[in-house]
Amino acid sequence: MKNLLAPSASELRTLEFARTPNPAPVDPAKRAEILADPGFGNHFTDHMVDICWSEWGGWHRPRVQPYGPIALDPAASVLHYAQEIFEGLKAYRWADGSIRGFRPEANAARLQRSAVRMALPELPTEYFLASIRELVAADGDWVPSAPGTSLYLRPFMFAKEAFLGVRPAKKVNYYVIASPAGNYFTGGLAPVNIWLSTQYNRAGKGGTGAAKTGGNYAASLLPQAEAYENGCDQVLFLDDGYLEELGGMNIVLVRRDGTLITPESSSILEGITRDSILTLARDRGLTVEERRVHIDEWRAGAESGEIVEAFACGTAAVVAPIGSLKTASWEIRHASTELALSLREELTGIQYGRVDDRHGWTTRLDVGQ
Ligand code: PLP
Ligand code: COI
Repeated sequence: MKNLLAPSASELRTLEFARTPNPAPVDPAKRAEILADPGFGNHFTDHMVDICWSEWGGWHRPRVQPYGPIALDPAASVLHYAQEIFEGLKAYRWADGSIRGFRPEANAARLQRSAVRMALPELPTEYFLASIRELVAADGDWVPSAPGTSLYLRPFMFAKEAFLGVRPAKKVNYYVIASPAGNYFTGGLAPVNIWLSTQYNRAGKGGTGAAKTGGNYAASLLPQAEAYENGCDQVLFLDDGYLEELGGMNIVLVRRDGTLITPESSSILEGITRDSILTLARDRGLTVEERRVHIDEWRAGAESGEIVEAFACGTAAVVAPIGSLKTASWEIRHASTELALSLREELTGIQYGRVDDRHGWTTRLDVGQ
């Protein structure tokens, strides 16, 4: 689909970012305390990136500025019609001190696909990559080095125009903020419990399920609350009985012979972690089936011993073994975590530079401004 809002080449301005250092950055001792136990999404770095877009001016005014509140007109259309998209990727501290990204161009491409669906302007890949490099240059000290930690980068874009008519906004801003991250799940690598949502759907055919847009997450909050009430960590959504994905992660099942099975659907987010894991599995000679998977297949397979393992995967959670899938009346349990943890080890090995990056997935973020 052609995005009619995409800027033409002539609209692209310089990639030179104006830089305003934060006059009151977080005290280094306080920062060290945060980095020692960052949790997920609780703390933010000293700076943020901001790039403006207008229908008449294209992308302009790229800048790095102190992290802080964004002034919005109460009529800004994002507040009314949720014209918003985002991304999530991590910057990793390698043993040599360098800072690397993992397949950031894939996040740039997905942000562009999300933009097309949400009638937002596509941010050119080189702007996306420059924006995360700029933020890492400003806030490199915030990239933690403890095992399993990283700096989570959150690029996002929304409709800023003050206008209540329902049409694509003519003024949009793109930002990047960053947040030091440890484990997404408080239980660390312990298997997670998943609640099966039988009452709610996340997305429908032709809807926005494949776009990384806030509304999909808003729709997941009520079923996610139901999951918490039932002692579960995440919620699994179905589409007419077929597996879709979790509230914020993709899902993979593992057969006894090591075959990986993962849902094919036009209404799920195409996870970069999932794609990477499937690639690593194929490299090991394992078979990967990307196809429709009915919940009954999982249930019967778990009972017969044909399906031995299941896991969740996504940038924030990396790879999390699934210990159980629960409903009000039945439950699936998996004792094995072997393949999930071994793929997690290989993937994180590549991300942190401990394992040869044979696919060329890692990119230095702290050079090449
Ligand atoms: N599905 C949803 C709904 C997500 O929010 C995410 C996380 O970004 C994923 C899947 C996994 O995507 P990725 O591996 O690119 O982070
Ligand atoms: C991510 O993994 O980047 C996500 O967006 C998922 C969210 C649950 C934090």
